[in-house]
Amino acid sequence: MKLYRVKDYDEMSKKAASILAAQMVADPESTLGLATGSTPVGAYRYLRKWYEEGILDFSGIKTMNLDEYRGIQRTDSQSYYYFMKENLFDHVNILAENTHIPDGEKADADEVCRGYEALVREAGGVDLQLLGIGRNGHIGFNEPADHFERECHCVDLAESTIEANKRFFEKAEDVPRQAYTMGIGTIMSAAKILLLVSGEDKAEALYETLCGAITPQVPATVLQLHPDVTVIADEAALSKFERR
Ligand code: PGA
Repeated sequence: MKLYRVKDYDEMSKKAASILAAQMVADPESTLGLATGSTPVGAYRYLRKWYEEGILDFSGIKTMNLDEYRGIQRTDSQSYYYFMKENLFDHVNILAENTHIPDGEKADADEVCRGYEALVREAGGVDLQLLGIGRNGHIGFNEPADHFERECHCVDLAESTIEANKRFFEKAEDVPRQAYTMGIGTIMSAAKILLLVSGEDKAEALYETLCGAITPQVPATVLQLHPDVTVIADEAALSKFERR
């Protein structure tokens, strides 16, 4: 595992974008695993900028997103489909048919999840998977549980996740209660993983992820077993290490 300690959110974002960009340049037909939430927004901003400057070409790139709310329309501004268009896809020359997100409009969880798992496999797996982390240590929407769920599945969101995500909605009741997510096995099968962590509210989760016992109660701890993980964390996220 490689750990970069950076000053703040912007430095984290720039470093993350440079690793994603390097992957795209090295293999212009890469499959990138992408994430949503506040964490990757800055990295996507750098990728857009470098695309506008003619440095990056997305025409051969494929993307597989980690997760999507269940029972949300794509046109809903809180859907991850909408988020990806807003933050990246509508601003670069990626082909729409090369971008993949679990279909939150479909209620048949089995069909969506089996189909998505197959899609990841058909794409030959993910070359570089971008991850954020929840305050409870979730990755994708793999919430604390009594076992690691291997494949893409439908989850009930943890109360703490609903609480954390309500900032994007008008009120907590509007946050969907379920989501489709890549499984821990799907995530772990990526060739490379890039985990971004920013802010003091993630300090405990990051400390547990790097130093804690591997347990499905803190899903991100499984990353200790992956052979190629890069973590970029800012000073606030690393504050628990410094206090020790
Ligand atoms: P955030 O969410 O980037 O909005 O903090 C990360 C996550 O829950 O995985």
